[in-house]
Amino acid sequence: MILSLAPMEGITGSSFRRVHAACFGALDRYYTPFLAPPRVGSGFGRKALKELDLERNAGLDVVPQLLTKHADEFVWAVRLLADMGYREVNLNLGCPSGTVVGKGKGSGFLRDPEALDAFLGEACARSPLPVSVKTRLGVSDDAEFGRILETYCHHPLAELIVHPRVREDFYKGAPRWEPYGEALERAPFSVAYNGDIFAPDDFERLTRAYPATRHVMMGRGILTNPALARQLRGGTAASREELRGFHDMLLDAYEEEIGGNAVFRMKEWWSYAQYAFADPVAVHRAVRKVRRVDEYKAAAAGIFGGERLADTPRFRG
Ligand SMILES: Cc1cc2nc3c(=O)[nH]c(=O)nc-3n(C[C@H](O)[C@H](O)[C@H](O)COP(=O)(O)O)c2cc1C
Repeated sequence: MILSLAPMEGITGSSFRRVHAACFGALDRYYTPFLAPPRVGSGFGRKALKELDLERNAGLDVVPQLLTKHADEFVWAVRLLADMGYREVNLNLGCPSGTVVGKGKGSGFLRDPEALDAFLGEACARSPLPVSVKTRLGVSDDAEFGRILETYCHHPLAELIVHPRVREDFYKGAPRWEPYGEALERAPFSVAYNGDIFAPDDFERLTRAYPATRHVMMGRGILTNPALARQLRGGTAASREELRGFHDMLLDAYEEEIGGNAVFRMKEWWSYAQYAFADPVAVHRAVRKVRRVDEYKAAAAGIFGGERLADTPRFRG
């Protein structure tokens, strides 16, 4: 079973991946948050280069993710990635954000299966690296997925990662497992599952219902409980000391990466990590208003010193 970390823009970047792997053991695979390909003929910008830097990703199996609807840009970016030493590229066909969808990218590309078919034909034929796709079921109705899946099946994808929601769901409501099962059955390439695996019992239910599952990608579950993958492999839950150590190392990494903005990045992490504690509301209150690093450190010390851990950490956003 492959266990991977989901791409999450602004959250699961290279600092997070590195610190997570150092504290809880490396996952089998990591996906970068989406990167926009540079214009044909240009290089990646500074932020993307940091995200892709081989030293910052040393020892980890990292798959860069691209967000585009232009085959030329895609192929150009994949060439740059291949030259850097990457071995697979992932195409984002799931992003639900209004600005992205409005430009016909991310899940907005699912509106037009013919254009998607043409894009994938060119991308797969010209890409120097195997191409995997991370997809939603459609824009507004899961009935759209039949046609979309048929489109994918025409192309030699390295893998299809299914987040079984439609764009209009954003991240709400239960993921629809049946279309995932349909993809698992019909696709001539590997199919991975992603969505709402927050605790070991979610994973057990999924793999019992779909025993052919070979790859589960997790995002919010790991942000809430960084030991989740270890637990799925039969290991122990995170202790308070481990969580504190992880927190401190993450804060250091963000301070080094983005200086004073580290506090804001950590507060975003707490919006998930609060559910590792028995009283998430108290945790939320403790960090909500802090701005300065010293205030932040005092608030975090209070949480680790005083708040009880949840019996079963589970994201409840
Ligand atoms: C804040 C945030 C940022 C995200 N950024 C990306 C992204 O860059 N690329 C992508 O494919 N999905 C992105 N996603 C979706 C996640 O990869 C994943 O599909 C989603 O969180 C569902 O999985 P989970 O229930 O395990 O968290 C993002 C989700 C969130 C909440």
